Amino acid sequence: EPRTRIDPTDPDIYLDGIPHADFAEMRAAEPVRWIPQVRGSAGFDDEGYWAVTRHADVMAVSRNSETYSSRENTAIARFQPDMTREGIEMQQAIMLNMDPPQHTKQRAIVSRGFTPRAINSLRTALSDRAAAIVGSIDTDSGDFVTDIACELPLQAIAELLGVPQEDRGNVFEWSNSMIGYDDPEFSGADPMESAMGLLGYAMQMADERQTCPRDDIVTTLVKAEIDGEHLSVDEFGFFVLMLAVAGNETTRNAISHGMHAMLSHPGQWELFKQTRPRTAVDEFVRWGSPINVFQRTATQDTVLAGQKIQAGQRVAMFYGSANYDEEVFTNPHIFDITRSPNPHLGFGGSGAHFCLGANLARLEIDLIFNAIADHMPEISLAGPAERLRSGWINGIKHLPVNYH
Ligand code: HEM
Repeated sequence: EPRTRIDPTDPDIYLDGIPHADFAEMRAAEPVRWIPQVRGSAGFDDEGYWAVTRHADVMAVSRNSETYSSRENTAIARFQPDMTREGIEMQQAIMLNMDPPQHTKQRAIVSRGFTPRAINSLRTALSDRAAAIVGSIDTDSGDFVTDIACELPLQAIAELLGVPQEDRGNVFEWSNSMIGYDDPEFSGADPMESAMGLLGYAMQMADERQTCPRDDIVTTLVKAEIDGEHLSVDEFGFFVLMLAVAGNETTRNAISHGMHAMLSHPGQWELFKQTRPRTAVDEFVRWGSPINVFQRTATQDTVLAGQKIQAGQRVAMFYGSANYDEEVFTNPHIFDITRSPNPHLGFGGSGAHFCLGANLARLEIDLIFNAIADHMPEISLAGPAERLRSGWINGIKHLPVNYH
């Protein structure tokens, strides 16, 4: 049953998963709805936003960066009483929070690290890693998230950037604490301190490659020039910061959601083991919608699905709703690893900011599930999934399983 007028960024309503009934009500009744976020702290008492819940409207917003800007704190739709102007401006050093033409230039440079060829060149290394991760399990039961799902995404980014093995643990901890701050389990570490730790590490890496070039992507990125412009050491640092956040937790959750869904629908796991459909990966991303929401800010007065929006107002795209839009998906609540076509928006609509790492994520997910199917076909659920407390990331924190 839908509740009345929820705030779809409220972390408490995600503890049992995506609030499907609420989103269905919003899509039907008011697909672009004003959510007056009232927190009453730090001198603010109203920081509302438009919640966009239909597939077609999320597409329209994501495509139009002229009207819907990414400059203002794109990632966090939820009103943060302690967010300062300074904090917002700092985040504008990250590509995610840039508009064209600045965005176009940076994206052209960093895209060089993500060409199909570059991603494919990681295949053998990542395939070996996937087998090693699964092979290292020597207990009968455990937590799928910490034992398996979290490992490959981290290793993939580390592999991509050439982070040495001994530094990978630090990178993992920094990235964990930067993103999980709404959950009590992770709120011990200071996200700002972790961001600084990672930033410093990345800048040092870029600095080293500038003086001592190697045959790796860091060198490619710090040497790359477009229109006489290249990434500075600072820009590189922020880029790595973004990768650590964008590529780690997201892919981990796609893997955890995929496993949870398959083991809760045993017919699908059997089907996967027998036929290994390539379509499975995108169904995991649709089903789990690891990123629930990103936002934009209107640059001018406009109209969306008949709703007037004023310049300066925030517009939040709920992928977790769009991916279950019955106007686009047949039987959206059926988990179907052969679903095709599957035009989900889990990687973010279709515009300039479409996920740079989508193909890397797809490769990782495909490799880990094939390794599990090969080496651990008897895996089964041993208890309920424990969700991350967050309205931004649809996350599974712990997933108890039996391995054999
Ligand atoms: C952007 C989701 C994996 C790097 C995005 C956006 C979404 C998303 C929704 C759009 C942001 C916006 O429109 O403002 C996901 C999901 C993943 C995943 C669900 C896993 C299943 C990765 C990986 C990497 C990555 C593995 C890199 C290693 C990025 C970057 C951007 C981005 C750099 C910003 C692109 C830009 O601003 O031009 N991702 N992502 N992502 N993603 Fe991913």
